Amino acid sequence: MNSHLELSVRLVEVGARDGLQNEKRTLAPAIRVELLKKLANAGLRTLEAGAFVSERWVPHMAGSGDVFKALPDLPDVTWTALVPNARGLEEALAAGCREVAVFAAASEAFSQKNINCSIAESLERFEAVMVRARDAGVRVRGYVSCVMGCPFTGHVKPETVAAVSAALYGMGCYEISLGDTIGTGTPAATKALLDACTQVVPVNALAGHFHDTYGMAIANIHTALGMGVRVFDSSVAGLGGCPYSPGATGNVATEDVLYLLNGLGIKHGVDLDAVVDAGEFIDAHLGRETASRVARALLAKRRREA
Ligand code: HMG
Ligand code: MG
Repeated sequence: MNSHLELSVRLVEVGARDGLQNEKRTLAPAIRVELLKKLANAGLRTLEAGAFVSERWVPHMAGSGDVFKALPDLPDVTWTALVPNARGLEEALAAGCREVAVFAAASEAFSQKNINCSIAESLERFEAVMVRARDAGVRVRGYVSCVMGCPFTGHVKPETVAAVSAALYGMGCYEISLGDTIGTGTPAATKALLDACTQVVPVNALAGHFHDTYGMAIANIHTALGMGVRVFDSSVAGLGGCPYSPGATGNVATEDVLYLLNGLGIKHGVDLDAVVDAGEFIDAHLGRETASRVARALLAKRRREA
């Protein structure tokens, strides 16, 4: 890749939602708020703070309303939430949420398992969400899951992802986050995916959302950067997975993405050491080790130098 001087990337921190929704322990809203504040203080500017979904389906996100009510208004910080339907949007608005995300899939089987409806039905539901969100002055992001593989049916065609992305973009989602839910993607698959999606959605409205199950997330991000993508989703300490995606591990770790961007000289505005601290905080609450190789290396270095 050529020099990235002057380039900048926006990270969407999804640890407090995508991460925590699939950890063994369910954390109280107060701890989730504490984590989110630490991440915002580290310089992250877009943070997914919860999900207004059925508590029966995803118990970890119970109390998302309390999280939003407790979050401070910080300059330039956007706290966002997932909403699966009109009810979710109403609850998000009532809690003071100013940006939401709807989530579709490029696999029928995954759509059924995740939100109990077909892809077409989900898009119909989201149309209603868009109308109400527009009235309320709330921006909507769109996710597409299973962009490089489905846990139930395997291969997913880039053209299918492009069609769902185009539908979400067409109904008014300002950005489409392409989710490699099960982390099976490779740089070649990422290229094929983006070749198809950039035909129908401008590249500056696309984001990469890579899970790191097969250790390819950083390579995939590097490929996507080379193709013009400038927004990536990541989780502090590589938290999480997806409750309806058996075997999937966490998102790419925020610390690992920051290290990559630092190495490429790409601006991001985030303090890597402060993210490592936030990771230590949340790992202690979860009783787990960090999944970030960069955090592991930096913590070991800190111990050596202490
Ligand atoms: P359903 O059972 O088809 O819907 O669920 P329903 O209308 O029959 O409602 C079932 C129950 O949910 C009822 O309660 C409703 O009141 C309630 P009950 O009578 O059983 O007590 N309900 C709600 N509760 C709270 N908030 C709501 C809401 N709507 C209905 N908004 C539904 C349909 C969509 C609700 C359900 O399937 C659901 O909540 N699914 C969420 C699944 C989820 O959150 N998955 C994880 C996020 S996706 C992801 O992680 C992928 C991503 O990271 C990208 C990637 O990696 O690919 C984004
Ligand atoms: Mg995800």
